[in-house]
Amino acid sequence: MASPLSADPAPELPLAPTALVLLVGVSGSGKSTFAARWFAPTQVLSSDAMRAMVADDPNDQSATDAAFELLHTTASLRLARGRLTVVDATNVERWARGRLLALARRFGRPASAVVLDLPVEVALERNAARADRRLPPAAIRRQQRWLRESIPSLPGEGFTPVWVLTSAEEVDAVRVVVAART
Ligand code: CTP
Ligand code: MG
Repeated sequence: MASPLSADPAPELPLAPTALVLLVGVSGSGKSTFAARWFAPTQVLSSDAMRAMVADDPNDQSATDAAFELLHTTASLRLARGRLTVVDATNVERWARGRLLALARRFGRPASAVVLDLPVEVALERNAARADRRLPPAAIRRQQRWLRESIPSLPGEGFTPVWVLTSAEEVDAVRVVVAART
């Protein structure tokens, strides 16, 4: 089941040290901000960084296939070693999540999801104020529809746990706790 966190004022968000963690959220939901706050840069594989790596431009959409090939390869190499691996991409499409889940399964690692399910207005406002990248609002609304379809199916797809954060306040309040390696 997806876990509502809103009842607890300072909820912990526990993750396994060997996990594959998908951040899930529309553009502007704060995935990269969340990743930078809670994880080491080496633990975060972002589709933008991979686009930049192959094309010198994080916004070059023509580099998307190459970027994900690089992301999946890097994720595989990390998961093989049992290193916590956070995927900073929208992950609102089931097929994209499926490819990542397959990697976690191949290496016997848990796959977890942290969903930034903020009101779409928040993402639209942030998007409008961005200096680095601005998507057409219709693109964000389309991602939002995919996100809404995705949330109920995440546990059945195999993600465990699934954490769903539904407001900026909730995102600010949670504390990511990575369990110690045994
Ligand atoms: N932002 C903000 N307050 C937050 C989180 C993010 O003002 N609590 C701002 C960031 O500074 C950035 C924008 O909102 O300018 C988008 O945040 P970002 O973390 O980059 O969102 P992503 O989900 O990573 O967006 P994308 O999918 O486009 O990479
Ligand atoms: Mg980002």
